[in-house]
Amino acid sequence: MFAWYQDFERLRPTKTWLVTGVAGFIGSHLLETLLRLDQTVVGIDNFATGHQHNLDQVRALVGPERFDHFRFIEADIRDPDACRVATRGVDYVLHQAALGSVPRSIEDPIAANATNIDGFLNMLVAARDAGVTRFVYAASSSTYGDDPGLPKREEHIGKPLSPYAVTKLVNELYAEVFARAYGFDSIGLRYFNVFGPRQDPDGAYAAVIPKWIAAAIRGDDIWINGDGETSRDFCYVANAVQANLRAALVPAGDATNQVYNVAVGERTSLMDLFGCIRGALAPHHAHLATYQPRHRDFRAGDVRHSLADITKARRLLGYAPSHGFLDGLTETIAWSVHGARPAAE
Ligand SMILES: NC(=O)c1ccc[n+]([C@@H]2O[C@H](COP(=O)([O-])OP(=O)(O)OC[C@H]3O[C@@H](n4cnc5c(N)ncnc54)[C@H](O)[C@@H]3O)[C@@H](O)[C@H]2O)c1
Repeated sequence: MFAWYQDFERLRPTKTWLVTGVAGFIGSHLLETLLRLDQTVVGIDNFATGHQHNLDQVRALVGPERFDHFRFIEADIRDPDACRVATRGVDYVLHQAALGSVPRSIEDPIAANATNIDGFLNMLVAARDAGVTRFVYAASSSTYGDDPGLPKREEHIGKPLSPYAVTKLVNELYAEVFARAYGFDSIGLRYFNVFGPRQDPDGAYAAVIPKWIAAAIRGDDIWINGDGETSRDFCYVANAVQANLRAALVPAGDATNQVYNVAVGERTSLMDLFGCIRGALAPHHAHLATYQPRHRDFRAGDVRHSLADITKARRLLGYAPSHGFLDGLTETIAWSVHGARPAAE
């Protein structure tokens, strides 16, 4: 169990939480944690990129009795009625449903817009009308766009570099306007490259860490886009879960109607990431002793360096990452190799 769990163990009386995108990577971790904390959870997902096996795994981890406190609605947030039904009687919304991935949005900006903007607005309206106490939503570090400054501070953003980044920026603008126009409280969490167990390693739009771990285990080629010096602030999923809970429960006031970086504040280059994955897996897989990455062109829409300043989340939310990059990578690799339980117990 993580130290920060103690802050939430006395969540009484039990609250009702809506997790959108609950069958996805981050959504399924929110579900797991909330059920462990004996909360009631409603989830909505259309399985666009999420999987039934994520829900099955949560059931196996928390046990059938706790899983009975979860109600799943298979539906699409592009449908306003579905959003209305899902938000009925809900105290807190943790809105994760979106089409992620910069390259996917470059391929299909209309689809990204429909789910990430229309769907977001449907959820915001439904949550406002249902009188939910707090609407916490997944924003993104992609909102920093072409701003070269490091580390990234919430108040300085650049121009978006992809349709995905536009959608996440529009989310923030809508949330701000809903606070002004309707007095509706929300908090946006700008996630920086979240990773961990259950993140999908497959498909054209897979994130780098699960994709590379799976490729290394199979002995497939690992491709680095560019020279390998591109860097990211990789954030273990337990940190993102903690930020969501703190954002939902922080008293209204200075901390609300704000956006926060959710990261660790550590920068890791792609070459270093490759070395860490190879080093951790080599004892289990002899073929990795001579394993080297291959390089190709930089990818359109990618930012060069990403590193968060997490002072604001520390100060106003009490957020304190429980896992540095290497702690999280160790957990993730253990899960990939042994199917080990994530340590969120
Ligand atoms: N993982 C990261 O590094 C990262 C970084 C920044 C922001 N985010 C944001 O965090 C959120 C969760 O991301 P994730 O990594 O868990 O991705 P994910 O793809 O695993 O989860 C997204 C979930 O939303 C569902 N979904 C998509 N469109 C839907 C629709 N129209 N109706 C209902 N459900 C729908 C998918 O089926 C999936 O289960 C997303 O909003 C994403 O943009 C993630």
